[in-house]
Amino acid sequence: MADYLIAPSILSANFAKLGEEINDVLDSGADIIHFDVMDNHYVPNLTIGPLICEAIRPLTDATIDVHLMVEPVDRIIPDFAKAGANIISFHPETSSHIDRTIGLIKEQGCKAGMVFNPATPLHYLDHVLDKLDLVLIMSVNPGFGGQKFILEALNKLKAVRERIDAGNKKILLEIDGGVKVDNIAEIARAGADTFVAGSAIYGAGNNEDPHRYDTVLSALRAELAKV
Ligand code: DX5
Ligand code: ZN
Repeated sequence: MADYLIAPSILSANFAKLGEEINDVLDSGADIIHFDVMDNHYVPNLTIGPLICEAIRPLTDATIDVHLMVEPVDRIIPDFAKAGANIISFHPETSSHIDRTIGLIKEQGCKAGMVFNPATPLHYLDHVLDKLDLVLIMSVNPGFGGQKFILEALNKLKAVRERIDAGNKKILLEIDGGVKVDNIAEIARAGADTFVAGSAIYGAGNNEDPHRYDTVLSALRAELAKV
């Protein structure tokens, strides 16, 4: 079985108690924390920035996976690196010089990811795939949690999986949007190894028990074990 990573998106967490929400998903077996940054410009929503990343950094050694939905993107990258981000991913449409943006992320000591919206073509990978540590395929249009998985993303995952496997570098293949217990196995079969889930995880914790996320995380793992 491949190594799979489950990445709860804190976009769907209760922000009034964000620290607990992060500790509780990690205690329930989540692998990394997905951190959605929206700017009310590139996407029609406004979320969290480097200050929040810095505030949560001392809580855990787990990877903080920052998904920038910000345009222009370069200026904010050093701020997230200083705030403790481990992976920084950006949408190619938000950068005037994609190779430079990837270089900037790596110079700051972070892993670099590129993100593809449902209608963004994969040719952006052509000359830079080897420089990336992660490719993120969006299975919803970015901006909001709780949207429905767009099935075409499965074909895109298969295409990127082939490209990654044709090289000899370890590159994570992440999926983001509409991931649930009932589709995660099919998504894994299409080639994803890293699974962002916001509403499916945080929507499942309906009490104050710190183990309230055990059930949903176990269910996601059980589905992945079938692949
Ligand atoms: C959407 C964000 C996602 C979002 C996923 O723009 O990038 O990370 O939180 O939420 P769900 O899992 O609810 O679709
Ligand atoms: Zn995201």
